[in-house]
Amino acid sequence: MYEIVVGRTQDDLKKYGALGTAYIGKHIVGLGEDAHTTSKILLDLVRPHVMLICGKRGSGKSYSAGVIAEEVANLPEELRKNLAVIIIDPMGIYWSMKSPNEKDSELLRKWELKPKGVDIKLFVPQGRAAEFESAGILWDYTISLPAGEFSAEDWAITFNIEAFSDAGVLLGRAIKNLKARSDAYGIREIISEISSDNRAEQKHKDVLRGLFENIEGWGIFGKDKISLEEMFRPGSISVIDISHYEGWATKNLFVSLISKKIYQARLTARKGEEARSMLGEEKSELPMIWLMMDEAHQFLPNDAKTTSSDALLTLVKLGREPGISTVFITQQPYKLHPDALSQTDVVLSHRLTSEQDIKALETVMQTYLLSNIQRSIDDLPKWKGTAIILDDNSEKLYGMVVRPRTSWHAGGSPIAIKNDQQKA
Ligand SMILES: Nc1ncnc2c1ncn2[C@@H]1O[C@H](COP(=O)(O)OP(=O)(O)OP(=O)(O)O)[C@@H](O)[C@H]1O
Ligand SMILES: [Mg+2]
Repeated sequence: MYEIVVGRTQDDLKKYGALGTAYIGKHIVGLGEDAHTTSKILLDLVRPHVMLICGKRGSGKSYSAGVIAEEVANLPEELRKNLAVIIIDPMGIYWSMKSPNEKDSELLRKWELKPKGVDIKLFVPQGRAAEFESAGILWDYTISLPAGEFSAEDWAITFNIEAFSDAGVLLGRAIKNLKARSDAYGIREIISEISSDNRAEQKHKDVLRGLFENIEGWGIFGKDKISLEEMFRPGSISVIDISHYEGWATKNLFVSLISKKIYQARLTARKGEEARSMLGEEKSELPMIWLMMDEAHQFLPNDAKTTSSDALLTLVKLGREPGISTVFITQQPYKLHPDALSQTDVVLSHRLTSEQDIKALETVMQTYLLSNIQRSIDDLPKWKGTAIILDDNSEKLYGMVVRPRTSWHAGGSPIAIKNDQQKA
């Protein structure tokens, strides 16, 4: 049976066929009792994309994102080495991908698949590593945020301080003085710079000191420059578990830093690739990046500026040229920044009910009428993992069911009935 390839241009389709695609699920045809699956649905992995995965709570978003990561891991070596996946995990659920999905072995068998773990690399915040260990979670690398990488504006947004308030001005002065000396400073140095400022009033110093002393206690900031070398390793799949970072403001700082670093690194690599290809030489060592982000509306919201907003907008608007794909996962697409929506070229939407959210999808693909999207979602059978996929390249919409995961998914809803309380 023929396959449906989404996210791929006609030219690429002619040249490469189904090479370098992800097997994400099957097309659904028919309604109600007659609904059944037909062709495989394949997603292009080799060109940069802006992808949106949405759907209401528990509809299968995180699960589907895991399927895409599994498929990168399954690519033939010569293709896989050109890619690296970085998953930003604010809920702490992707670590379980290391294990095979034994609990769904029966379902997998029906799909002619077998349980299989993925060789992900798990990054956890330094200072929180012991908590992962005591929960029995094996991590691979620790990561700490260099305080010197952040601007006064970043800190002001993090603490919700007006830049031109007394505390904001004091903060600006302290960071400027520190940066004039060196970028290698930690939270302790920021605190002492604030304390030694002789132009500010004591009460403003106390406010700022209190805020910095609080975050110092979280054990996630350091002095040393961050190296993302491990995450940029060809063919690697990195899960950055930031669930232990207190509050979204710190998670945002993290995402801002990583997005900036990815952009800079790929931009530099792209220039090298261009120069080498003019000389007829091989491509660069730095793979193209797929940056996947769960709960994306927290990082790039439509109604506020977070510390990660600018960096993510840069990736969304300019990421194609340097070879960066972004996958935004959210329950509420309308809460995502409109520029991210308008740049989206592939949408995987599980069940959505609110009209605002469905309207947001319409902004992605103008050619689809709102009623079309709504109806296609309503027509989906009530099975686990059903979705519609919108492909801006072909301007087509398909009903589909996402294939079962071969690796363990830790995001299932907890249930208050324990095994020994179940009916016999
Ligand atoms: N394609 C699928 N095949 C089989 N089961 C699935 C599929 N997709 C989701 N599920 C089931 O649904 C559960 C919920 O999925 P998931 O954790 O991805 O929801 P979510 O949309 O990310 O929810 P939340 O918004 O709460 O994060 C999974 O634990 C799994 O049991
Ligand atoms: Mg989820």
